[in-house]
Amino acid sequence: MQTFTLTRPDDWHLHLRDGAALAAVLPHTARQFARAIVMPNLRPPVTTVELAEAYRRRILAALPANSGFEPLMTLYLTDNTAPGEITLAQSSGRVHAVKYYPAGATTNSDSGVTRLERCFPVLEAMEQADLPLLLHGEVTDPEVDVFDREKVFIDTVLPQITQRFAGLRVVLEHVTTREAVQYVTAAPANIAATVTAHHLLMNRNAMFQGGIRAHHYCLPLLKREAHRRALLQAATGGNPKFFLGSDSAPHSRRDKEAPCGHAGIYTAHAAIEFYAEAFEAAGALDKFEAFASFHGADFYRLPRNSEKITLRRESWQVQSSLALGDDELVPLRAGERLAWRLQ
Ligand code: DOR
Ligand code: ZN
Repeated sequence: MQTFTLTRPDDWHLHLRDGAALAAVLPHTARQFARAIVMPNLRPPVTTVELAEAYRRRILAALPANSGFEPLMTLYLTDNTAPGEITLAQSSGRVHAVKYYPAGATTNSDSGVTRLERCFPVLEAMEQADLPLLLHGEVTDPEVDVFDREKVFIDTVLPQITQRFAGLRVVLEHVTTREAVQYVTAAPANIAATVTAHHLLMNRNAMFQGGIRAHHYCLPLLKREAHRRALLQAATGGNPKFFLGSDSAPHSRRDKEAPCGHAGIYTAHAAIEFYAEAFEAAGALDKFEAFASFHGADFYRLPRNSEKITLRRESWQVQSSLALGDDELVPLRAGERLAWRLQ
């Protein structure tokens, strides 16, 4: 197959940042995707509908001319989020979900939730309003092994949410383990998951290939090969609960290549190509369009896109770095060649 045409996809989990970084990364996403669920972990976090509306306007202002890209905004859940904010979110038509970060779990999560019970009134309002909850599904207990934090979250925290709020739509974001796949697969239809391209393409060896690889460090961490295979099987299996969420997370080279480097892998420059590579390697290109373009829209109850995009089999070299404000950004596979190219 030399070309592959599919309905224009959406990215159901994306970090766009703000200011100069936003301006640098947004064109990459806008040329591939029709819409993206935009993460609210800015500094300060996007905790209110008013802040989300203002952020949305900054995103629209940074878009290339004639781009039809639509940012879908989210709110950052804190211990102090008022249930009334959910009513505002629902009537705004702009806010499509609320993001739960356990405090301290990852980049800019210090304002996240410290005790789940504090959020019960908000979760109840979300269930009523049918507004999805997006989970960074990892516990932060320093006693728990870093590779087990997702599994322990699924065992201990997730059931508290899904049992108490049985009607709430929940997306377990960026799943990385077999346990996550099993949980989501067995759960009712209102529980879904996003899968990143980097977790489909790499296992944890990639973090230590010939030395420590800061640019392969993300959260949740890459896992063992058996987990990568489980993710691949879930993503390519045609199950509508699993859909594309790149979690492309730009950080400057300075912040990544530091003694205490930041978590995040940048994939927006070639996100759709990375996913195509993973699906092709699994012999499942026939399942690619539904995963990339249909399942997420259906879950979020938004119309499917009508435009098409075409990927061509053409070897091309990823740039070794991209400009990012006064620093640079090292994209996944920097300087290496990819087999698929978006036309
Ligand atoms: O690797 C990650 N980077 N994981 C996250 O959860 C956050 C993200 C970021 O914002 O950089
Ligand atoms: Zn993320």
